[in-house]
Amino acid sequence: MINLKDISVTFTQKKSDVTAVDHVSLQIDKGDIYGIVGYSGAGKSTLVRVINLLQKPTQGQVIVEGKDMVTLSARALREERKKIGMIFQHFNLMTSRTIADNVAFPLKGSGLSKADITAKVEKLLALVGILDKKAAYPGQLSGGQKQRVAIARALANDPKILLCDEATSALDPKTTLSILELLQEVNQKLGITIVIITHEMQVVKEICNKVAVMENGRVIEHGDVISIFDQPKAPLTQDFIRTATHVEQAEKKLLAHTDKPLYVLKFPNATGAVIIDLFKKFAVTADILYGNIEFLQEVPIGTLIVTLESDNGGVLDLDAISDYLAQRQVRISEIERTTEKEVIA
Ligand SMILES: Nc1ncnc2c1ncn2[C@@H]1O[C@H](COP(=O)(O)OP(=O)(O)O)[C@@H](O)[C@H]1O
Ligand SMILES: [Mg+2]
Repeated sequence: MINLKDISVTFTQKKSDVTAVDHVSLQIDKGDIYGIVGYSGAGKSTLVRVINLLQKPTQGQVIVEGKDMVTLSARALREERKKIGMIFQHFNLMTSRTIADNVAFPLKGSGLSKADITAKVEKLLALVGILDKKAAYPGQLSGGQKQRVAIARALANDPKILLCDEATSALDPKTTLSILELLQEVNQKLGITIVIITHEMQVVKEICNKVAVMENGRVIEHGDVISIFDQPKAPLTQDFIRTATHVEQAEKKLLAHTDKPLYVLKFPNATGAVIIDLFKKFAVTADILYGNIEFLQEVPIGTLIVTLESDNGGVLDLDAISDYLAQRQVRISEIERTTEKEVIA
């Protein structure tokens, strides 16, 4: 569906060149809700603008629905772009036009009659849940409502792809969730492939099935959301995952609360009686201090923080315990007692 092959984008400036995107290859399949996560300046916006060629890559191939975008004529490119809608952090609505006119705007020159345009606009406004605001102006709407208008506008030309650049970053958490739900509905009902750029892993956790992590113009890790959340490899990915769950706060509080060694158990598919089995097999008592289950695409991923104590006062055979747990698809690790977290530049 979207195939980015070895894309680089270098901005030439007076003093020095900036390589915003550095040899990125990415495949986004039809029906995906694909998250691209990274801190500010990582190159996310530049990369996503390459998809509809708002940004021409310095090198590499952009294949969208089988078409090599870089080689298209201006006219063919205009047609292809209609199949790619886009929404932004600050909505980019025309303030002096009504909501209905904003949504109708991309339909100019579409050949549809006035009546057809009105009908289509109303259908789109109903889909995003703000038909009652059609005669209002953007200034009269809340942030969430404005983003709904922007989504309706982005859908006006029946796109196959919707690009979202920090679409929820200006919204409060509750409104963010309602917009993400709407995007999920757009994906499922209309079969539109969605690319979501965000600096919040929480957003990825809510609706994405795939994710790529960007740093310094490069994709440092990518894959399906469940495996990335279960076993993030790059330190930056681990950092992002921690911010998307409450495990880190719990770790900090518990470390301050006790001097005992603390262990994290991760259950990629929450299973049964592991704690009891530890007692039966190893005479080890696990005291549960914290528990959490995240659902990622309906798959439960469990986390427990425990203390482990050998019943007869003996030494813990952590290697044996770890091997045993691994057979049960449970991973164990001790929480490190470092005060300063490594700062990732
Ligand atoms: N038009 C431009 N001219 C020069 N540098 C740019 C331009 N657009 C982006 N950059 C630079 O490219 C890098 C990546 O920017 P961007 O793609 O906006 O990152 P992100 O969206 O992840 O915050 C940054 O260092 C930014 O300053
Ligand atoms: Mg950006």
